[in-house]
Amino acid sequence: MLNLNETVHLEPQSQIYKGSYSGTIINIADSTFIITMPYENGKLVLLSVGTMLKVDIPEKEISFISEVINRTFVPEPSLVLTLPIQFSDKKTNKQTKFISITSGKGGVGKTSFTINLGITLSRMGYRTFIIDADLGTANVDVLLNMHPKYNLNDILNKEKDILDIIIEGPGGIQVVPGGSGLQNLADLDEWQFSRLINSFQTLEKYADIILIDTGAGLSKNVVNFILASDEIIVVTTPEPHAITDAYAIIKVMDNRDSSLKPKLVLNRVESPEEARQVTKKMIQVTDRFLTLKLDSLGYILEDSHVLKAIKRLRPFVLTDPQSPASQCVKNIAQKIVHPEETNQLEVRKSFFNRFKELFNK
Ligand SMILES: Nc1ncnc2c1ncn2[C@@H]1O[C@H](COP(=O)(O)OP(=O)(O)O)[C@@H](O)[C@H]1O
Ligand SMILES: [Mg+2]
Repeated sequence: MLNLNETVHLEPQSQIYKGSYSGTIINIADSTFIITMPYENGKLVLLSVGTMLKVDIPEKEISFISEVINRTFVPEPSLVLTLPIQFSDKKTNKQTKFISITSGKGGVGKTSFTINLGITLSRMGYRTFIIDADLGTANVDVLLNMHPKYNLNDILNKEKDILDIIIEGPGGIQVVPGGSGLQNLADLDEWQFSRLINSFQTLEKYADIILIDTGAGLSKNVVNFILASDEIIVVTTPEPHAITDAYAIIKVMDNRDSSLKPKLVLNRVESPEEARQVTKKMIQVTDRFLTLKLDSLGYILEDSHVLKAIKRLRPFVLTDPQSPASQCVKNIAQKIVHPEETNQLEVRKSFFNRFKELFNK
């Protein structure tokens, strides 16, 4: 989608270079492109490595967030910039599905659901990644008894590339560890957050499905993850507080984009009948007071195998594949990969395009 000799407009996020600059594309590769170093008043604009830029090609209505990853002066002063995959020539046909898994309230089983869903999808043959974006209380690695050396914080510190921090978990899932007790997702500024998003983009080349454990609650960055995803799963238990909080986050989604179709997962239900009743009630309330359409993705039964597996730091779909909870997760996985025709027909913009739009608001 980019062409050689095209002019790009650049808006750097830099203390020194705050203006609007332009450069000419002189090389395009898979995940990077090279432009001539911009000039201002006859002086080269020395954007430093790590500078984030908004890149625009107005004629083509192309706009994306990029990062300066190198500077060279031979054969001519130029900048090497990251290229979002959707603008490179080597785009795979199959679009990676980003699924945000969120909840109004913590402790509803979101992380344990995410892990077991990820493993189930991975065993069904889908290359599945889990991003532990619950930076405040990240614990995907803990629950999987993994001891990652690096985590998302090392990306934020610019010390590591996302591919350096991924570790393989049980059942074939790939995990991007979050690192507990570190910076809260809610505290990241726009540019740190966009750095994170850019690094997630790299994963599109490797993953069929990317599950993002977003952390609970309504912080701006959690909401931005949610809004940018291809699918949103809201996990709740039938407990009244959890339902109230789930409804609150659905309401925020509705305010931001009423075309969203979040899917509800009822966890820890006593029976399919309880799941049916609670789900029906939530959908009724949503229909009545909100514009967006809430759908059901299924339920997970209260099951003692879940806690038993957690205590052994093993996922229940692997330790007890026949358990009620495992069967429920399998049903949900089936629904995700074989949605109704109506869902499949829907063409949505890519995660990053949507994110970019949010970012530019
Ligand atoms: N289906 C279930 N049956 C029984 N207990 C469950 C179930 N799902 C979750 N739990 C319990 O809930 C606890 C919290 O789960 P967790 O995934 O850490 O929640 P969250 O990520 O939402 O904070 C787990 O330690 C587990 O004991
Ligand atoms: Mg959690």
